[in-house]
Amino acid sequence: MASKVKSVYVCNECGWETSKWCGKCPGCGQWNTMEEELKDTSKKAVTSHLEGSSVYAKPTIINQIDTNDEQRYHTGLKELDRVLGGGIVKGSLVLLGGDPGIGKSTILLQICNYLGKTLKILYVSGEESKRQIKLRADRLEVDSDNLYIFTETDIQIIAEIIKTEKPELVMIDSIQTMNFTELSSSPGSITQVRECTNVLMKTAKSLDIPVIVVGHVNKDGAIAGPKVLEHIVDAVLYFEGDRQMSYRILRGVKNRYGSTNEIGVFQMEEMGLQEVENPSLMLLSGRPKNVSGTCVACAMEGTRPILAEIQGLATTTGFGNPRRMSTGFDHNRMSLILAVLEKRAGYFFSNVDTYINVVGGLRLDEPAVDLAVAVSLISSLKDVPIAENALAFGEIGLAGEIRSVSHAQARIAEAHRLGFTRCIIPYHNMKSINKKQLDGVELIGVKNIREAFEALTDR
Ligand code: TYD
Ligand code: MG
Repeated sequence: MASKVKSVYVCNECGWETSKWCGKCPGCGQWNTMEEELKDTSKKAVTSHLEGSSVYAKPTIINQIDTNDEQRYHTGLKELDRVLGGGIVKGSLVLLGGDPGIGKSTILLQICNYLGKTLKILYVSGEESKRQIKLRADRLEVDSDNLYIFTETDIQIIAEIIKTEKPELVMIDSIQTMNFTELSSSPGSITQVRECTNVLMKTAKSLDIPVIVVGHVNKDGAIAGPKVLEHIVDAVLYFEGDRQMSYRILRGVKNRYGSTNEIGVFQMEEMGLQEVENPSLMLLSGRPKNVSGTCVACAMEGTRPILAEIQGLATTTGFGNPRRMSTGFDHNRMSLILAVLEKRAGYFFSNVDTYINVVGGLRLDEPAVDLAVAVSLISSLKDVPIAENALAFGEIGLAGEIRSVSHAQARIAEAHRLGFTRCIIPYHNMKSINKKQLDGVELIGVKNIREAFEALTDR
């Protein structure tokens, strides 16, 4: 049959296909994302997961499924293992995303250094030359006879090499540079990224080899073709943090083999990424003393309580409309808290600019942080400092009430460990707290914002 090539327009954000070009994608509503691609309709689609695997499995009774052979490789970095749910699972495909220069290639080489002592590793780079990789490896003191460097971008050649060389771990840096030659679109486009990931997925599953894939993020901070890729891979890890600052936070966004929302904290140093075992201590270091407008909050990141300093600033507005800015905290949530403060607690912010900043580049989305945000703003407005040894957590309701939060015990224990002696917590959490191992911690249950603020300032 003669090949029929027709052109289609594919959205490079969500993968929506149309036969005609349009300015706004009907799928995701983004503008200017439709790109032309040539599609050969005479060929079969290359996307099916089952295609290529000759063995079709039969349905199995759940109790007869053996999970004992689930093998995990520890990466030598405890923080990374935690985010992965205990290590890299055999046959899994992990996507590692993040801004350029945040440390993705660095962490891969560090894993190679540790695992390369026992496993055969294939490191495929489409971005850097062998010499560049070697220079970085020397700097990170990578010393391994099992680490193979391969600079190639043709995904079919890479899949072939994986089949013949049979490495025990494969790293692809990055998926946007990979190219599936049968497709006409340029590397990095959504179709290319999807097909290349599919090839890797098939290879990973059929040979039971774990594959770690690096993915770049687009200008909005999402991995290119995010929705498409997230569905295919087993786990999505995401590097966050300010490039200017040395902290790097690794966050699990999706994980088929463990819990998500666990974070790993690293610090970029001369010798690559170093783990930060005590993130609360790091985030609280350099806290100003006796200054108004700062309050410590305790947020849960997965199973781990993390203390972070919230800074608020309220200044007289210069223009008609007051400014509202927040970094590391949801902007809408801040507006809501300001409205509650004004209507329910009698603190007036309608003619002041307000700023919120979570110190350390952390992003806190948990409602339990509400109270610390509210209190830091009031503290700045009144210019009354919060007691240095005090901390607050609780969700603020629209009626101005402080609502109970989960994991109160773990949060207080972390505060105790770091030397805080006064915890302002929701009143309804008080009865569930076991005070046994919390010597020297004064617990104050509060029902509304005013009570909380009074309990936090030095009496
Ligand atoms: P890199 O891993 O190349 O980033 P990505 O692959 O995510 O684009 O990280 C590069 C940055 O990290 C670079 O700006 C230099 C810095 N760096 C260090 O500070 N120390 C080190 O030991 C290494 C290897 C890199
Ligand atoms: Mg890189």
